Amino acid sequence: MDFRSFPSASIHSQSVTRLMGDAGSVLLELLDIRPGEDVLDVGCGTGKLTRRVKAISGSGRVVGIDPSERIIAKALRRPTGGLEFKVDSAESMGYRGEFDVVFCNSVFEWLKNIDAAVANMRAALRPGGRIGVQAPATSRCSPTFSAALGESVRDPKVRETVSAFRSPWFWRETPEQYAEVFERGGFKVKLSEIRLFETVHGKEEVFRILCSSAIAGFMNPDNYTCPVGEEYLRLFQERVKQSLYKQADEAGMLTLHFHRIFLVADRGD
Ligand SMILES: C[S@@+](CC[C@H](N)C(=O)[O-])C[C@H]1O[C@@H](n2cnc3c(N)ncnc32)[C@H](O)[C@@H]1O
Repeated sequence: MDFRSFPSASIHSQSVTRLMGDAGSVLLELLDIRPGEDVLDVGCGTGKLTRRVKAISGSGRVVGIDPSERIIAKALRRPTGGLEFKVDSAESMGYRGEFDVVFCNSVFEWLKNIDAAVANMRAALRPGGRIGVQAPATSRCSPTFSAALGESVRDPKVRETVSAFRSPWFWRETPEQYAEVFERGGFKVKLSEIRLFETVHGKEEVFRILCSSAIAGFMNPDNYTCPVGEEYLRLFQERVKQSLYKQADEAGMLTLHFHRIFLVADRGD
């Protein structure tokens, strides 16, 4: 693995970048998709970035997959413009040597069977194909959320139940550990880097962003080893919100910190 051989991109010179949408833009830039290339977007969500990929690849085949029927239905509500959207997961998809690029943005932390997913991603690529992954990274991926959580768990009303929470997320602590996951699956890793994104938002927006990521994990009763009721979920969410809001300045603005892994690899043949 030679991280230095990867051509430097803007990611190396920027210290502050907008969250999510722009992290996806950095990944697109790193992957350098070319017109005519066939691209598989794994965990495409409602297809916002898939459409950007299609705008770049033009005549190339672009397929977005996501396990959520509701989300794919939403993606299909807009004209597809030659895009294909399918209900499928990284772990169960069965593409074989059909794509030049696999694009996977803000999905990796949710995968349940990493080795199966990585094997399927590699199998989907043609020889010489490449993959780009961007995702929240490390067990303290959002120090902003961790600070709010640290305060919330001391509340006697939630303390006992929250101690039964079991993380549903896949985390590794270093870029080398992320690279190892892909090299174990046969990829040749070209870039693996964890960056701290720092963005400033109104406190309500920070709460909304975390509700679709870190807080969502705590809102799922399946992630607890004890029964979890509506009252606990409501209290927990309210407690985290209060702690987050306390971090805001007088104007109600809050700096959100997020560690993110950027990984680019070749199929390795
Ligand atoms: C934060 S969204 C990211 C959506 C899109 N990639 C983007 O960057 O805008 C995460 C998506 O991953 C999907 N997802 C969760 N588990 C998955 C799995 N096992 N395989 C593929 N996608 C998955 C979710 O349904 C959700 O749409």
